[in-house]
Amino acid sequence: MTSSLKGKDIIRADQFAPEEINLIMDTAARFESVLRADGRLTNMAGKVLATLFYEPSTRTRLSFETAMLRLGGQVLSVAEAKTSSSAAKGETLFDTGKMIEGYADVAVIRHPVTGSAQELAEGAGIPVINGGDGAGQHPTQALLDLYTIRKERGGVAGLTITLAGDLKNGRTVHSLAQLLAHFGVRFNFVAPDALAMPTEITAGLRDRGIEVHETPDLAEAVAASDVLYMTRIQKERFTDPAEYERLRGAYVVDAALVGQAKPGMIIMHPLPRVDEIKREVDDTPGAAYFRQAANGVPVRMALLALTTGRE
Ligand code: NCD
Repeated sequence: MTSSLKGKDIIRADQFAPEEINLIMDTAARFESVLRADGRLTNMAGKVLATLFYEPSTRTRLSFETAMLRLGGQVLSVAEAKTSSSAAKGETLFDTGKMIEGYADVAVIRHPVTGSAQELAEGAGIPVINGGDGAGQHPTQALLDLYTIRKERGGVAGLTITLAGDLKNGRTVHSLAQLLAHFGVRFNFVAPDALAMPTEITAGLRDRGIEVHETPDLAEAVAASDVLYMTRIQKERFTDPAEYERLRGAYVVDAALVGQAKPGMIIMHPLPRVDEIKREVDDTPGAAYFRQAANGVPVRMALLALTTGRE
């Protein structure tokens, strides 16, 4: 049976079967080669994407919107959904979902509450894609991160991957750890104690036989890593500003640290960065974070086309 994502919601990174992940990667690579050749795509002609962003976003919203436009589709957008949509009047996401299916063929939501994308999806009869739900999941980021690792390193199996920073509140690392669990990697999780990876995620990985090494020591991890994935301390998830001030700046990647890295190590970051990676690192060959951001376009094109059956 050929795998299909038609009609499916994209809510969590652990929802995917390996053949679905491969299908997304292959479809993204196909779209990327058409874009590179300046080709035109019309897969989504006549279709409408609704983007509902209840939290700030630059990359995720713009890359989904350009992905839809590059596939010949159209976009409806509520940019400041929190204040300008009926959410301000108390409408539930379930009801918003019921309504949105009359307006669009596929929807992307970003929201500060964990589980919000699932609630919208339960109301909506169209595919709903989670563009980040609070400190929960960010599955489309994880897919573009995987796509980036494959492109930069030529494969994933056997790599040692270090996830560093705010592993408690960072939704990108939750999703990425679960997605990479399919590929025989080893993990280092580097975080201050207060920002450690949630135990349900580490336990889930260890149950699957994946090696996870937790340490607060970034330099030690970098010396043994093939991929260093930095994250921002997630200021907006802190209730105590003093705690944020105590923890910000916990890890900073500079040229000296990169000089001690294993040869060929790539540095990734979902962006935006605050102070975790110095500008001096940007010109080193392993600095992959801006290439990573660009990879969001073909991967999101693949997700839009596959969920609507237009691949
Ligand atoms: C991330 C997010 O929103 O979770 N940004 C993104 O989508 N590239 C990372 C972050 O905000 O730190």
